[in-house]
Amino acid sequence: MDRDINLDRIDLEPPPPEAEPERQFYFMEQCRRWVKRRSEELGRPLFACTVTFGCQMNARDSEKLLGILREIGYEETSDEHADLVLYNTCTVRENANKRVYGRLGYLNTIKKKNPDMIIALCGCMMQETEVVEKIRKSYRFVDLIFGTHNIFKLAELLYRRFTEGRMVTDIWNSADAIVEDLPVERKYPFKSGVNIMFGCDNFCSYCIVPYVRGRERSRRPEDILAEIRRLAADGVVEVMLLGQNVNSYGKNLPEPATFSQLLRRVNEIEGIRRIRFMTSHPKDLSDELIEAMKDCGKVCRHLHLPVQSGSSRILKEMNRRYTKEQYLELVDRLRAAIPDISLTTDIIVGFPGETEEDFLETMDVVERVRYDSAFTFIYSKRTGTPAARMENQVPEDVVKDRFDRLLKRIQEISAEVCGRDLHTVQEVLAEEPDDHMDGYMTGRLGNNTIVHFPGDASLTGRIVNVYLEESRGFYYMGRMVPEEKT
Ligand code: SAH
Ligand code: SF4
Ligand code: F3S
Repeated sequence: MDRDINLDRIDLEPPPPEAEPERQFYFMEQCRRWVKRRSEELGRPLFACTVTFGCQMNARDSEKLLGILREIGYEETSDEHADLVLYNTCTVRENANKRVYGRLGYLNTIKKKNPDMIIALCGCMMQETEVVEKIRKSYRFVDLIFGTHNIFKLAELLYRRFTEGRMVTDIWNSADAIVEDLPVERKYPFKSGVNIMFGCDNFCSYCIVPYVRGRERSRRPEDILAEIRRLAADGVVEVMLLGQNVNSYGKNLPEPATFSQLLRRVNEIEGIRRIRFMTSHPKDLSDELIEAMKDCGKVCRHLHLPVQSGSSRILKEMNRRYTKEQYLELVDRLRAAIPDISLTTDIIVGFPGETEEDFLETMDVVERVRYDSAFTFIYSKRTGTPAARMENQVPEDVVKDRFDRLLKRIQEISAEVCGRDLHTVQEVLAEEPDDHMDGYMTGRLGNNTIVHFPGDASLTGRIVNVYLEESRGFYYMGRMVPEEKT
């Protein structure tokens, strides 16, 4: 947990405070008493299961939600036969949506056997009016619905559900303040995401994120640095700075700051050994940031730089605000400054109006940049976005064919590129015991490539030197060597 809270000291006699986060501590204590009573009646602890869909932003939100649930007295489980099941949803593509509806049907069958079970939904999907209407109408067994702007209110909403006994819905259209200092339950003891900003103002024409996550808001540098210092004191060695477009960090702060300034300050925090960040929008990636990456020894030599398409015409339609040439030129500048940088990307196939020629431009970018890896997505029509109203949608079979060709090429290149550190000694963060091989650990290089090497769980969270003996396409097999590089 990031902060020590003593709920025992909270006085429940007066009405709840107005100010945050004190108001939420009050409701956490109310819920805690409720959970305790219920658990005494049942003669066992109450269990909560949180399922996260979507991106790193949602994963971090889930850690905050779990922090609150833990504080209230729930025990965590991955089994959906729990007393409380919370889905933190994603709506970036239609598939993400469908998965949630599918699983809700399954939850209903569980709830029929345990009518006291609480089903809660939050996250990006809940920011869409049609979704909430559909759930209220056709999924009446859901108990609690909230969105992306008010996750900090989980305790208050849950308490309302406990006392009112019927479906509670609370969706905000925007967030006016960022509530700091709530409890967090981290998934990994040694690494953590850190939100540096929320929302997005870019309005890429295919993307629903700006509508469900709201306008761009940056946290104050002091709050971010204080959080990272606390994490470091708690054993965290790697932080991932999170935002939809970290390169525009700080623009709207009362005292404007830039992302590169922030990076330099994080680099100074004792105990932090690795710094990553996500996501960088190519249009805002400054020379100042390239310099900062070059100067800061803790910043990993890895950049996720979504290109989306290689066709300047499609990029314009996507409202990405760079051309193919500008993107390639940026890659050249990055590689000139940091020769060993590994690049990864996101690509959308089948954006409305994409011709074979446009697609070949994308293939050309892939050939030229030679990404370490790439996430490839089939364009998905999102209601309310400008691209959804475009008429010339590409037929499914054409998209599928392009997607397969792209994926094949990306995988071939990736297998060639990823082996470039073979037969060298590299620093590896040991993350967890290997799933498949007893006596082995799985870790990551600074550039994010996975390495398996003999070792045991006591190494978890430590940065060790590993000789990379064998490259197997997307990962290495290695062995630990003593401290000095050989
Ligand atoms: N803010 C990040 C990306 C957030 S969404 C950025 O701008 O890079 C993650 C990825 O999902 C995007 O990079 C994009 O490739 C993909 N994506 C977003 N909307 C999509 C849609 N409607 N259809 C298919 N893929 C989409
Ligand atoms: Fe979506 Fe574009 Fe914002 Fe990324 S930058 S979240 S793709 S609108
Ligand atoms: Fe999905 Fe929301 Fe992230 S829509 S990709 S979880 S910001």
